[in-house]
Amino acid sequence: MQLKGITKSFHNGDQELQVLKGIDLTVEEGEFLAIMGPSGSGKSTLMNIIGLLDRPSTGSYDLAGQEVDDLSENELAQLRNKEIGFVFQQFFLLSKLTAQHNVELPLIYAGMSVSKRKKLAQQFLEKVELTERMKHLPSELSGGQKQRVAIARALVNSPSIILADEPTGALDTKTGDQIMELLTQLNQEGKTIIMVTHEPEIADYARRKIVIRDGEITLDTTDSVRID
Ligand SMILES: Nc1ncnc2c1ncn2[C@@H]1O[C@H](COP(=O)(O)OP(=O)(O)OP(=O)(O)O)[C@@H](O)[C@H]1O
Ligand SMILES: [Mg+2]
Repeated sequence: MQLKGITKSFHNGDQELQVLKGIDLTVEEGEFLAIMGPSGSGKSTLMNIIGLLDRPSTGSYDLAGQEVDDLSENELAQLRNKEIGFVFQQFFLLSKLTAQHNVELPLIYAGMSVSKRKKLAQQFLEKVELTERMKHLPSELSGGQKQRVAIARALVNSPSIILADEPTGALDTKTGDQIMELLTQLNQEGKTIIMVTHEPEIADYARRKIVIRDGEITLDTTDSVRID
C-alpha cells in the first residue's frame, strides 16, 4: 500500500481540525508495522483510512494497485472485505452469538452457504486454539479468548492485511503476549500486519515502527521506540 500526502480534517461547526497533515507511507506485502504516538495524534484516524473505513480529505492512497479515490462506496466495501481483517481493543463481538457464530458473520455478509461457513469458522477457531470454546457466548470467555475469537473473525475471509488498533490494550501482559505471538505467526505465514500500540514491548513484536505526532510521521525505524 502506498499513501502520499494524506490529510484528514474534521469539521465542527465553523471550526476545522486538521488531524493528519500529510502522511507519506509505503507498506510492502508481508511487513509487520507498529504505529505509535501520543493520544490524539491521529493513529486511529490513519488506521481508518488505511482500512477503507474513512476517506482522506486530500492525498492519494493506492491499495493493491487500485487508487482508492477512484472507487465507489460499493467497490470500497468489496475491496475492504476481500483484503482487510480488523482487530480492535474492545473485541466488538456480538454478545448474543456464540464464538462460532461471531466468526461466521463476515461469511454471512459474503453470502456463503451455512455448511461451508460453519466449517470455515470451526477451522479458524481451531487455528486460534479455541475448538473447545466455540459454542460459548463472549460473556463466558476470558479477555484473551475473546480477542482470539476476534482474530479468527478477522481471518476467516482470508484477508491479506490485518489491522489491529491496540489489540492488547484490554489484556494483561501474559495474555497480551499470547495474542502477539499469534499475530507474529500470522505475519510469518505472509499476512501484512499494521498495529497501533502505546506499549514499547508490544511494538517490539513488529519489525518496523513509525511514530505519529500531531498528525505527522516523525520517526520510521526498526529500533525500539519509547513514547513519553
Ligand atoms: N469523527 C471525528 N470528528 C471529529 N474529530 C475527530 C473525529 N475522529 C477523531 N477526531 C479527533 O482527531 C484527533 C485524533 O484522533 P485519533 O482517534 O486518530 O487519535 P489516536 O492517536 O488514535 O489517539 P488514542 O491513542 O487516544 O487512541 C483527536 O483530537 C480526535 O478528537
Ligand atoms: Mg486511537
